[in-house]
Amino acid sequence: MADLTLEATVNGRRVVRQAKPSQRALDFLRDDLHMTGTKEGCGAGECGTCSIFVDGVLVKSCLLPVAKIAGRKVDTIEGLSASGEMSAVQKAFHKSGASQCGYCIPGMVMAATAALRLNPDADREEIKERLGGNICRCTGYQKIFDAVEMARDFLNGKLSEVAFDELDADDGKYIGVNVRRIDAPSKVTGALRYAGDMVLPNMLHVQVLRSPHPHARIISIDVTDAAAIPGVEGIVTAADVPGQDGFGVFVSDQPVMARDKVRYVGEPVVAVAAEDLAAARRAIAKIRVEYEMLPAVFDPDEAMIEGAPVVHDYAPGNLVKHIPIRKGNVEEGFARSDIIVEQTYETQQVEHAYLETEAGLAYVDHDGVVTVHSPSQNITHHRHMLSRILNLPINKVRMIMSPVGGGFGGKEDMIYQGMLALLTMKTRRPVRLVFTREESIATTAKRHPSRTSYKMGLTRDGVILASQIRIVYDGGAYGMSTEGVIRKGAILGGGPYNIPNFQIDTYGVYTNNTPSGAFRSFGSLQSQFATESHLDICAERLGMDPFELRLKNAMRKGDQTHTKQPLNSSSMSDVLEAARTASRWENGVPNMRGATRSDLGGDGTRPSCTLVPREVIDPAADLSNRKGAA
Ligand code: FES
Ligand code: FES
Repeated sequence: MADLTLEATVNGRRVVRQAKPSQRALDFLRDDLHMTGTKEGCGAGECGTCSIFVDGVLVKSCLLPVAKIAGRKVDTIEGLSASGEMSAVQKAFHKSGASQCGYCIPGMVMAATAALRLNPDADREEIKERLGGNICRCTGYQKIFDAVEMARDFLNGKLSEVAFDELDADDGKYIGVNVRRIDAPSKVTGALRYAGDMVLPNMLHVQVLRSPHPHARIISIDVTDAAAIPGVEGIVTAADVPGQDGFGVFVSDQPVMARDKVRYVGEPVVAVAAEDLAAARRAIAKIRVEYEMLPAVFDPDEAMIEGAPVVHDYAPGNLVKHIPIRKGNVEEGFARSDIIVEQTYETQQVEHAYLETEAGLAYVDHDGVVTVHSPSQNITHHRHMLSRILNLPINKVRMIMSPVGGGFGGKEDMIYQGMLALLTMKTRRPVRLVFTREESIATTAKRHPSRTSYKMGLTRDGVILASQIRIVYDGGAYGMSTEGVIRKGAILGGGPYNIPNFQIDTYGVYTNNTPSGAFRSFGSLQSQFATESHLDICAERLGMDPFELRLKNAMRKGDQTHTKQPLNSSSMSDVLEAARTASRWENGVPNMRGATRSDLGGDGTRPSCTLVPREVIDPAADLSNRKGAA
């Protein structure tokens, strides 16, 4: 289809350009006008990072065909501070600390500006409603709402410009006082460039062919037709890796692209660099890969059974790592217990959902140094792995950490940087890869799913005498951070409770699922979920208040942790008491209060979703049935 001659007024200036009819307004602004303050978070109208004004109306530019802005007046985040001075809304966001990673913030500022234009007196509830089309993954919305209220009050004359000034800290003290983030202006104005915003002259665009199978042997890869597509400049597979092809935080088991076989759906197999994305996509569609299907395993417990499909030849039992911790003698502890409670807990895979998808830009610089910009949370480690993979001395590899548009641990593991390095070495041109939201969700590491078997022995009055815990973590197809995750799960698995007889075994297991990786709390969330759920169940069985049970067993100064570290101090009891007071906790057994509880209403609380009483267990009857499973 022929290009359009597009004329529009963008941020007050007349713009005339040729545009492709297939472009979205978002692409036109970012790629043709280099206005990269407008971000792409989802490409599907869900997140609001791409918000712009068209004839004064707030719209999501990822849903807008470029032809729809022809003849219109378009305003982007860059237009709000075109004079060099930030708008009141931008100043208020800066002052309020309403930006962390900043990726959502240009869209938030646009939505906030729209809200106050539509109703200069909007109250907090209306502001929330009007910002409902914008998602933030890391700031937490309160500071954003604070900022909009501050801007509203300034614009209505209730606050003076002084409200935006730097507070305090002129005496050189920065702890315990409000200081403003030095990187906030670039975030609230959209000036900050994330990896996907970066452009270099002569840059190529990268697309990746991924495995449609969870477990299959690669018989052949034919890129002949793809290489013939006009605009294709480079194609790489595992055969192009010059060094030791393996990366991972604890075990280097993951090739840059699938080597000999694929181990999960979405594993990269071939990467293509082309003059534009369309050519790279056409080339991907022309690549032919012949596979031989292999049996796959998706449950980590099944993967540990003898005879299960083997994911990696070096680990015939599919074990990434087993971490055991022992203290005292659990059998003796159980023998002295009045009650034994057993239960199984499961947690699921969780997506990080950072608003900036994975992205990177690579080039070989004038000194022959392979340079990769990416939002990596562990660049030193990535640099060392790349040097080994590329068979280059470390001083010929450079990693530059671009601004991280949300990470939560998900950008700690190296994923695509090797493909970028190989393609720039092969083409000798800069290359850039930006994951689509679908690609990010379907193919990158998630929080480890887990299954925990818990056995706890307690006295009649609630003293824990023994805990025996087994946690199986699904590591997915590659090791990545699994060893560290299950180590943390083991160390923190028993919770902050003084347990004389303690045994925990955590297992990281290979399966043909999407790899699991680092995620906030690094394995301890799974074990803490099991421990705290188990204590609530034990409290029910004992007929005790759950706070009382925890206070009775809280670690105190002089106690030993499960790894036998003596504690020189412990504030656990103070924390529990403070939480009990602050929550206006009403003592009682968890399952016996239900809708009559008085501590679930009033200021600062919201109704619990567990208000409906469950079946009431008679504690006396339960104890008479001592040592039965819960
Ligand atoms: S709503 Fe447009 S990128 Fe998310
Ligand atoms: S600051 Fe909102 S997504 Fe990071």
